[in-house]
Amino acid sequence: MTLSAHNLEVVYEDVMLVLKGASINVPKNGIVTLLGANGAGKTTLLRAISGLLGVHRGKITRGHISVDDVKLDTDQAPAVVRAGVSQVMEGRRIFIEFTVEENLLVGAHTTPRAAIDSKLDYVYEMFPALKGRKKQHAGYLSGGEQQMLAIGRALMAEPKYLILDEPSLGLAPQIVSQIRDLIVQLKESGLGILLVEQNAAMALSIADHGYVMENGKIVMDAPAKALREDEDIQEFYLGLGESAGSLRDVKHYSRRKRWLS
Ligand SMILES: Nc1ncnc2c1ncn2[C@@H]1O[C@H](COP(=O)(O)OP(=O)(O)OP(=O)(O)O)[C@@H](O)[C@H]1O
Ligand SMILES: [Mg+2]
Repeated sequence: MTLSAHNLEVVYEDVMLVLKGASINVPKNGIVTLLGANGAGKTTLLRAISGLLGVHRGKITRGHISVDDVKLDTDQAPAVVRAGVSQVMEGRRIFIEFTVEENLLVGAHTTPRAAIDSKLDYVYEMFPALKGRKKQHAGYLSGGEQQMLAIGRALMAEPKYLILDEPSLGLAPQIVSQIRDLIVQLKESGLGILLVEQNAAMALSIADHGYVMENGKIVMDAPAKALREDEDIQEFYLGLGESAGSLRDVKHYSRRKRWLS
């Protein structure tokens, strides 16, 4: 049981080649993380999977997506959700003028009517802070609560696979650790999770497997444990090592890798 991207090539505006043959596998019941510098193509890969490229004038020009070994024959987001794949987008994208509950119901547009109430109960149980505020405008929630709402909304569709694009972005450390625990809990409930993070330390601490993307290509593919122990990953993604660098140094990292290979 896997969500897979096979050899994806993606072009924006018919000219900008951004993904250059990227493949990843996300097993059910596992956390897979995708790391990479700004602009590497992580969000683009997620958009390709969840059928959101069209909105951004992008197109898959080669390769395909499959869910549990069945090839997805559509690039329409609602059909992808119906196939069992939900995405929490970068920047949360909740509807601030809608109430908390209305936001959750937006996530349930493909869910059978009879299942909606029990799904709402499930989400409120998971996020008690949302339950007390279900009639409030979502714009009044804190950043952390908005991220919880965005995750709750994705869960309303009863996904088998959940895709998260930078869920910790801009949140206080305490909230980041709550989100981290939540992701583990969701995996334990049987979901397959694809996690994109700039916070590589957080992502690698809970992931089973990781990929590193550079310039539209997957350049590393290994168990998370091996990535945590890799010197280059420690230096350039985890900020450890002698000349501890930030993600900005990844350019040098790729150059060095090329010299080595
Ligand atoms: N709609 C678009 N039209 C044209 N180019 C785009 C579009 N969206 C993204 N790009 C370009 O594609 C490349 C990859 O962008 P993408 O957002 O996938 O990177 P990312 O790895 O998610 O980066 P970040 O860590 O900053 O979120 C970048 O060069 C970006 O400028
Ligand atoms: Mg991104």
